Amino acid sequence: MLEVSELAVRYGAINAVRGISLSAAKGELITLLGANGAGKTSTLMCIAGALKATSGSVRLDGEDLTSAKPETVVRRGIATVPETRDVFPDLTVDENLTLGSYIRRSDAAGVAEDRARMFELFPRLAERAAQPAGTLSGGEQQMLVIARAMMSRPKVLLLDEPSLGLAPVIVDQIFAMIATLKASGLTIVLVEQNVAKALSVADRAYVMRLGRIAASGTADEIGAATDLGALYLGGER
Ligand SMILES: Nc1ncnc2c1ncn2[C@@H]1O[C@H](COP(=O)(O)OP(=O)(O)OP(=O)(O)O)[C@@H](O)[C@H]1O
Ligand SMILES: [Mg+2]
Repeated sequence: MLEVSELAVRYGAINAVRGISLSAAKGELITLLGANGAGKTSTLMCIAGALKATSGSVRLDGEDLTSAKPETVVRRGIATVPETRDVFPDLTVDENLTLGSYIRRSDAAGVAEDRARMFELFPRLAERAAQPAGTLSGGEQQMLVIARAMMSRPKVLLLDEPSLGLAPVIVDQIFAMIATLKASGLTIVLVEQNVAKALSVADRAYVMRLGRIAASGTADEIGAATDLGALYLGGER
């Protein structure tokens, strides 16, 4: 379904991503692991259309999305939850969800159905539906940005470090929810630094190091790799 081929990203003289290839089949959850600066976010933002690739390609169901605009990427079925976890703070939780459904606003019945489904998946959001999003806790804001991304009814969900900075109990809830979304047939690309958690929900894993894929395999294979620590070591580029 999702096919990334020889993707490269440069920021001036910095080669952040140096020709990586990865794929995710329908319903598959792949995780992109790696140390700080490995190029995970750059890879995700390229798939999302928010960052221009220097070379390489991104395809969804065979369609080339390599230089598509972010809105086009969303319309084709790829939704993104960036590292920055931005909610619209002055809008209510409910209004934030409505904005997530922008591309399908003519489908009022479908949007209502998805809103109900998201409130069922995240009861904490339902309780706070009328509250300004800026008043939510960090964990609740993370839930909201995931729910908002789901309101575009994506085929593929890109998640950048959803557990970052959250208390362990909240992290458990977020991962339980990711597992629920996966069980519904959604294809997920999960960038994480929490290796154990990521591998617990992933089918397959890619370990990035200095802009390259240093290792890949099933979640079990990567979890059992004795050199996983070494793969994480940084270094000069
Ligand atoms: N806008 C930018 N301008 C210049 N260099 C950048 C920019 N964004 C990222 N980089 C560099 O590109 C490299 C890859 O960054 P990226 O954010 O993709 O890594 P990451 O794996 O997501 O790291 P982290 O785990 O810290 O989020 C880093 O060396 C970073 O300094
Ligand atoms: Mg990052």
